[in-house]
Amino acid sequence: VSLLEDGYKLIVIDSNINSSPLALVRVKEILQNKNIAIEEIIFKNGDIRDVNFINNVFKEASLANNPITAVIHFAGLKSVFESVKNPSLYWDVNVVGSLSLLKVMEYYDCTTIVFSSSATIYGDDWSGSIVESTGLEPKSPYGNTKAAIEKILEDFFKISGNNWRVANLRYFNPIGAHPSGMLGENPLGIPNNLFPYICRVAKGEYKNLVIYGNDWPTEDGTGVRDYIHVMDLAASHRAALDYLFNNEPQFISLNIGTGRGTSVIQLVDTFKRINNCDLPYVISKRRKGDVPTLIANNQYALSKLDWSPSKSIEDMCKDGWRWNLLNPKGFENR
Ligand code: UD1
Repeated sequence: VSLLEDGYKLIVIDSNINSSPLALVRVKEILQNKNIAIEEIIFKNGDIRDVNFINNVFKEASLANNPITAVIHFAGLKSVFESVKNPSLYWDVNVVGSLSLLKVMEYYDCTTIVFSSSATIYGDDWSGSIVESTGLEPKSPYGNTKAAIEKILEDFFKISGNNWRVANLRYFNPIGAHPSGMLGENPLGIPNNLFPYICRVAKGEYKNLVIYGNDWPTEDGTGVRDYIHVMDLAASHRAALDYLFNNEPQFISLNIGTGRGTSVIQLVDTFKRINNCDLPYVISKRRKGDVPTLIANNQYALSKLDWSPSKSIEDMCKDGWRWNLLNPKGFENR
């Protein structure tokens, strides 16, 4: 939505293993409702590990005199839990997939890429807010794959004689939904992450939230994270693309967070207050692999990009809940 509002022409590639094709129908509806005329969004269903498939997408675009000029690469698996159980799947989808994409990009001389990285690559050997120069110490196969892809991108950049334009966006904790209530997330199965779990409890699907520990060294004892509204996250991609297009080739890594911490209890209280609903919870023991506090130092991103996050925790809770109320079963049953 953000890119189309800015007049970009898009080709969307998705295997749809974790997503619904209806999301793109909704994208078009949102723009129609805003009276924004857009060109057709080309959609290609396929897997990024399939070099022939990716190659055909680039080839078709070139033959149509619309060569692909940049890629925003979000295609990957993102469950820490699943990655611990099945690391080879994560190396295959995330790393092999990225490599196949990069090889095709190189062949077509498309050398501008914004990559979805994650704050998880910093591991847990730090305190307070994190700057980009912090050493990478991922603690899970998922985190290892994100760090490895950043390294691969760096090697592509170096071997090209520093000629690629690469931005690694290291996401903190994205939550919320499009403010229209027409786009959002509905994880398959039991959600691992806090926000979708809170929504299911609020909808009455689960009896209560389980809070993983209230004995962390934080103000109220529960884990503190840097939650960022998905619209601010989306805007950071648009800003990163603009930045790459308008500056010399470079390899850059940016923390995408608000710089503010919110505890589990604070998020629960805000959600209840803003949405006027009940959210029962129980306290259980700490979850393995969790860290007490993870907050972005976002100064570098603020200084480089024409971007700053503007949405509050209240906005995140309100928009996320609106999406859930309007789409209790996600995209499949309105
Ligand atoms: C997790 C991943 C991170 C990944 C991100 C994807 C881990 C250690 N980290 O981040 O690598 O990039 O998801 O979105 O898995 N909590 C509860 N009850 C719940 C769920 C979570 O109390 O049912 C707490 C957690 O202990 C944590 C906070 O809520 O303090 C946020 O958890 P979550 O939403 O899972 O995000 P992260 O663990 O920060």
